[in-house]
Amino acid sequence: MAAALIGCAVHALGEVDSTQSHLAALAAQGAPEGTVVTARHQTRGRGRRGRAWWDRSGESVLLSVLLRPSLPAGRAVVISLVAGVAVAEALGVAAGVAARLRWPNDVLVADRKVAGILAEAQSETDGHLGHVLLGIGINVNQERFPDEVGDRATSLRLATGRAHDPGRLLDAVLDALDRRYREFLTHGFGPAREAWRRLSASLGQRVTAADGRQGTAVELDEDGALVLRGDDGALHRVLAGELGEGHHAARH
Ligand code: BTN
Repeated sequence: MAAALIGCAVHALGEVDSTQSHLAALAAQGAPEGTVVTARHQTRGRGRRGRAWWDRSGESVLLSVLLRPSLPAGRAVVISLVAGVAVAEALGVAAGVAARLRWPNDVLVADRKVAGILAEAQSETDGHLGHVLLGIGINVNQERFPDEVGDRATSLRLATGRAHDPGRLLDAVLDALDRRYREFLTHGFGPAREAWRRLSASLGQRVTAADGRQGTAVELDEDGALVLRGDDGALHRVLAGELGEGHHAARH
């Protein structure tokens, strides 16, 4: 096998504000594609939509990966979908759980969130992606969560009843990401899209978009948009960031 692209350099930190911020500084200094930053604990971990990402030291896998795909800026969502597939596959291999994906990129076990993905893209003036900071947080050995997230979050330990080795999980995630990202560079989004559909917890579910549109999720489009069939039978495309909070209607 060719030498791994993802993980060509790994910066393993104890405590950091956010692996995303640390990697952003390395990216600005010209770090190569595939550079990874991991930490045992983040003091200012960030999630999607400006939310915080909580962890207790040593209980999670926390990593950020530097990617430099040659893509139009609006296509960054596809990268996070590819990453979701890789994380779900890694959790199957290393922890033996059947993870599912909630659009755009929450990783669920038994209907609760076990991992989150945050793709922060920097676009160039020509409308292409400069780089993507792909952040992944996996709840591994937590036995409880803060009240705010307690009823929606889980950890691999809670889901399986046993402790897991974060180092082994990190290796499995880097392996799966390397395979899926190379496949994406060579063959485009098609193969990961197929895998995403198979792993999807969203397709077939009723969802609510942030603008109030409701419908059943019927398809993942080739550009990563989620297609809803509304109550009037019409199809609507929803772009990342456009689903309402707790967007599976069944979870309201
Ligand atoms: C989400 O909101 O679901 C995305 C969470 C992403 C969290 C990870 S943890 C490692 C990386 N560093 C951060 O500050 N955030 C991401």
